[in-house]
Amino acid sequence: MMTDNNCKVLFACSEITPLVKTGGLADVCASLPQALHRTGTEVRVVIPGYKTVLNQLDNVALVCTLDTPLGPVAIGKTELDNVELYLVCHPVFSNRPGNPYMSDDDRGWSDNPLRFALFSQAVTELALHKDYLNVETDIVHCHDWQTGLVPALLALHNPRPATVFTIHNLAYQGNIMFNLYDELGLPGALFHANGLEFWGQASYIKGGIAYADRVNTVSPTYAKEIQTEFYGNGMDGLLRSRSSRVSGILNGIDEEAWDPATDKHISANFSAKNPENKSANKRALQQKSGLPENADIPLFGVISRLANQKGIDILIDALEGETELRYQLTVLGSGETELQNRLYQLQEKHPQHVAVKIGFDETFSRLVEAGADVFLMPSRYEPCGLNQMYSLRYGTLPLVTPVGGLADTVINYSDNPETATGFIIDDATPEALRQGIDQCVGAFSNKSLWAQLQHNGMTTSFSWEKSALLYQQLYKTALGDAAIANEHIRNARFSAG
Ligand code: ADP
Ligand code: GLC
Repeated sequence: MMTDNNCKVLFACSEITPLVKTGGLADVCASLPQALHRTGTEVRVVIPGYKTVLNQLDNVALVCTLDTPLGPVAIGKTELDNVELYLVCHPVFSNRPGNPYMSDDDRGWSDNPLRFALFSQAVTELALHKDYLNVETDIVHCHDWQTGLVPALLALHNPRPATVFTIHNLAYQGNIMFNLYDELGLPGALFHANGLEFWGQASYIKGGIAYADRVNTVSPTYAKEIQTEFYGNGMDGLLRSRSSRVSGILNGIDEEAWDPATDKHISANFSAKNPENKSANKRALQQKSGLPENADIPLFGVISRLANQKGIDILIDALEGETELRYQLTVLGSGETELQNRLYQLQEKHPQHVAVKIGFDETFSRLVEAGADVFLMPSRYEPCGLNQMYSLRYGTLPLVTPVGGLADTVINYSDNPETATGFIIDDATPEALRQGIDQCVGAFSNKSLWAQLQHNGMTTSFSWEKSALLYQQLYKTALGDAAIANEHIRNARFSAG
């Protein structure tokens, strides 16, 4: 019999560390199931069987084949750190190189609507029929637009498992032209104003928001922000109408995987108790970035997708006017070409102070975390953000905007210099960022103050423990919601004869 903690969760997502990662979603989809597993929840994760994933695995067993409206798929099974991992295998995933969503020239795959409709249809089948996974699924936990159709498709069934939909980023919606709708085998019954329809298009993320028993996002502040017009990306009305079912649960981080005391990618290990070796990482970072080795100049680091969200243009605007810099900056990023070019121009103008590395490089990213003095995140919005938490752990003080998870995880120097862990600027503008940078440079010159701030950050825990319990509670509530929905539909059918 199912008790509160041992409910069986099918966790559906489009990326997972270390097999396939484009951003923080992958880290969360690896570490949250682990944390849930530790608390006794039975979690099975399902992802698309991308070529890059299959290439890394030599122990995939074929579990079954199943039919979807878009044709048959094979379901493979393996294990990742003690958690069962299922793969939805189909040529649209396994015959494609590189990134899950984009080709090498940074354009989205044109058949993404089909690929993630197919994935969602397969997840729906797995969740509905005990025979495929050999287990009755109690909850389907879906993440972002790539799985948004799942709660909608499940809503057409009775009885059905409970559904939880987590929004990691509301700006990426998976909206498709209506003329594709039938071709994708999507049910007409879902295309209406309270369903998938969104300004004449069909929206995958809206499926999750409108139909899931519980909707949550990855920080309490972002949960409030997305219910406002400014941050709501056109979904704020719907989110407000469902606000009693919308909540925010702060992401945790994998504190073992991100530990400066054991991290194998960095030049020298260190900890809150023995922070001395951090300086060796700074030297190594300066050297690898081609910047002069100097312990006394503040070194700012950035690791980012180069996208409007991350405010990299705000950083460039803030620096462009400067004739001389009193600090160094090293940027690791990939994304929009225009931002890459502007960053290169900045590097050309300040070759002794600015270094730019374009690409996705896990090893170098660890060195930036460990070697920089300050981690810059001038995001316009930030659902949670993991890098500021990784930075805190590595004694690298975050300089952030007052949004989303950044506001929820950083204690601002201006509010309380004694307990502060970083710097929060007033808003996402070049002006405010310049002021924030000046404040950091000033604080950096006071060595004992700086050491105190680093210590504050390094001794703050962002483990999953607390948030995993909050997810368990959310699952419990969703189970209650689904039981009521299942019963209402049964009763309605009964009275309709
Ligand atoms: P988002 O998911 O919005 O990009 P997060 O802060 O949640 O932002 O997570 C980003 C994750 O992706 C972090 O683990 C970060 O280190 C990693 N990352 C981003 N860009 C790069 C890059 N160019 N190279 C290596 N890692 C990167
Ligand atoms: C998204 C968000 C980021 C968040 C991550 C994991 O990519 O942009 O803020 O940390 O998802 O939840």
